[in-house]
Amino acid sequence: MRVLLFTGKGGVGKTSVAAATAVRAAGLGRRTLVMSTDPAHSLADSFGVALGREPTIVAPNLEAEQIDAQQRLEDNWRDIRNYLVSLLSWGGVDTVEAEELSVIPGLEEIFSLIDVKRHVDSGKHDLLVVDCAPTAETLRLLSLPDALGWYLERIFPVERKVAKVVRPMLNRVTTMPLPQDQLFGAIDSLYRNLEGVRDILRDVSRTSVRLVVNAEKMVIAEARRTYTYLNLFGYHVDAVVVNRLLPDAVTDPWFDRWKALQAEHLATVEQGFAGVPMMRAPLFDEEIVGLDALDRLAQAVYGEDAVDEVLRHIEPPRFERTSDGYLLVLALPFVDRGDVDVFRTADELHVKVGPHHRSILLPAALARCEVVSAGIHGGDLRVRFASPDQGQERGA
Ligand SMILES: Nc1ncnc2c1ncn2[C@@H]1O[C@H](COP(=O)(O)OP(=O)(O)OP(=O)(O)O)[C@@H](O)[C@H]1O
Ligand SMILES: [Mg+2]
Repeated sequence: MRVLLFTGKGGVGKTSVAAATAVRAAGLGRRTLVMSTDPAHSLADSFGVALGREPTIVAPNLEAEQIDAQQRLEDNWRDIRNYLVSLLSWGGVDTVEAEELSVIPGLEEIFSLIDVKRHVDSGKHDLLVVDCAPTAETLRLLSLPDALGWYLERIFPVERKVAKVVRPMLNRVTTMPLPQDQLFGAIDSLYRNLEGVRDILRDVSRTSVRLVVNAEKMVIAEARRTYTYLNLFGYHVDAVVVNRLLPDAVTDPWFDRWKALQAEHLATVEQGFAGVPMMRAPLFDEEIVGLDALDRLAQAVYGEDAVDEVLRHIEPPRFERTSDGYLLVLALPFVDRGDVDVFRTADELHVKVGPHHRSILLPAALARCEVVSAGIHGGDLRVRFASPDQGQERGA
């Protein structure tokens, strides 16, 4: 099953483009399910129909669902939360505070993503389209399987088998609540689910993220940060959709400046996402509500092209940890080092090959490092960054 995630800054048109993609795919005969993990759920508004927590048929081949995040949280976290609350209360934390502390921010959304796995496992559809929450939340949510694994490993360091032996002894000497078997069961299944979700989301042949932007400075800046971090975490972005461009039909001189600005920002998108296909959609003269309007939006974005292929074939930049810092690897086939100019500004790395200019926004960890070398090896540009802390340790 193919999985497409749509994300971007608030209000750029994520839900509309996700729904339009689903409408088009269904029209092409793909058994499609579109679901929203955004608690603000506007998928129903987009289709102009009521939607529930189970898939509802909205057109031939097309089902839509809005996940009840609270319910998913209850299903997955109840046993673990109860234990945490008892542990915190035992440690002297007030019960209400313990209840609050036992909920990790972003947890609801991650449990919504477990539904991705459920749907992939069910095999009922050819395509799953996911309308994600605005960028910041999505990012946090996508890295959460790792973060949560880390958290769980540290809170529950006692292996189940060890616990079986140790619990009766400890129970005699301490009143501290110890995890029961049921709890290990809950943690086990949570782990398995989270790992499953992460494997699906990082599988390049199966899952792509599509970034939706408007031709506005701040929106693009945020999308570039998202792009960098998605690459860092191993997620694959295969398209950028620039939505709400002023159409040629708008000739009122009042909009001349806006049009010039949008053209300028389009160039920034081309440079900042080089190698990623860019699709465009105009600002329509009405809201995008209902199947016909969604199909018009799909036509603008995809034309006659397939919507569910992996659209990008160029490798994204890769970040690797080295003994003394980081290595940034960028596919640059068919060029020699002499043809490439590499320079660095505060938080960006610029790569020029002939007339082409590409800029990569560096994640915070790399922005703090020095560039120590750059070279071409086997069709890759490899740029080494050394961490100043490491340098101090070496010098010490
Ligand atoms: N190309 C377009 N032309 C005209 N209206 C549009 C276009 N794209 C989106 N809209 C409208 O803009 C509004 C916001 O779009 P949408 O809900 O898809 O954005 P979103 O990014 O999902 O927002 P949120 O961050 O709140 O989830 C909706 O009313 C939608 O109909
Ligand atoms: Mg939305």
